[in-house]
Amino acid sequence: MDQIVSKRSTLICGDAATEMAKLKAESVDLIIADPPYNLGKNYGNNIDLKDSADYRSFTEGWLREAVRLLKPGGSLYCFMGVKFIARLYLMLEEEFNLTPQGWITWHYTQGMGRKKGFSSRHEDILWFSKGEDARFNLDDVRVPQKYYRKRNNMAGANPGDVWQFSHVHYCAAERLPHPTQKPEALLERIVKASSNPGDVVLDPFLGSGTTVRVASVLGRAAAGIEINPDYIEMAHARLKEPFEAFDSTDPRAARTSKDLPKTQN
Ligand SMILES: C[S@@+](CC[C@H](N)C(=O)[O-])C[C@H]1O[C@@H](n2cnc3c(N)ncnc32)[C@H](O)[C@@H]1O
Repeated sequence: MDQIVSKRSTLICGDAATEMAKLKAESVDLIIADPPYNLGKNYGNNIDLKDSADYRSFTEGWLREAVRLLKPGGSLYCFMGVKFIARLYLMLEEEFNLTPQGWITWHYTQGMGRKKGFSSRHEDILWFSKGEDARFNLDDVRVPQKYYRKRNNMAGANPGDVWQFSHVHYCAAERLPHPTQKPEALLERIVKASSNPGDVVLDPFLGSGTTVRVASVLGRAAAGIEINPDYIEMAHARLKEPFEAFDSTDPRAARTSKDLPKTQN
């Protein structure tokens, strides 16, 4: 099984850089990449541990293809852990000449506790675009304002660049047997902010299929590449599930704006 194509989505089994090299240049509006972070995770048939030079050349290989595939004005969002993120930022800006648009911190409240040093409670997402004029659909991603104020846009506030979404907990019904399944609402925000219905969204490291699931629910043409055929099957099954709701929320989404004393309005 090399490829599964359905109405709105295409799942490709293989190596990200090799498979991207087969796709047409400037054909993708939005790339959302959640590559292995080189931390030794076990992804079934591939262990995520390379020496630093190999990891760097692996990253250069898939990034080169990602930049080739992006349409002018298209966006690349890349998840990354602290070990490599500073190098990744410089690579994207200086080697690949992409334009920095944002450094988003995904903050979560649960995780392993450390005895020495501060427990890690975030991962980061770099947003770069090909050219300066990147799409940003602010009205599609606003969160309720905290207060009623004359100067506030009561359609909602900009969500900012520190995002809180809980992990999909191991006990949750939505949790799949994949070690780094991302929350759907986090992907929803990226897809809505940086693409329009009908646009092409590509995830070169599909994993359990979160991006393709969210993007196809939102009416985008979604494609994903994954090296482990078991995860391709997992994502395919997930795409067939009826949609009820995304599996996580920004806690601010449920807040109701409060009145301020008149003098502060
Ligand atoms: C961090 S996980 C992605 C998780 C995904 N965002 C989700 O929500 O499930 C990275 C994935 O990349 C896959 N992978 C590792 N090396 C790869 C390669 N060279 N090409 C394509 N996929 C690869 C792993 O099998 C793993 O599923």
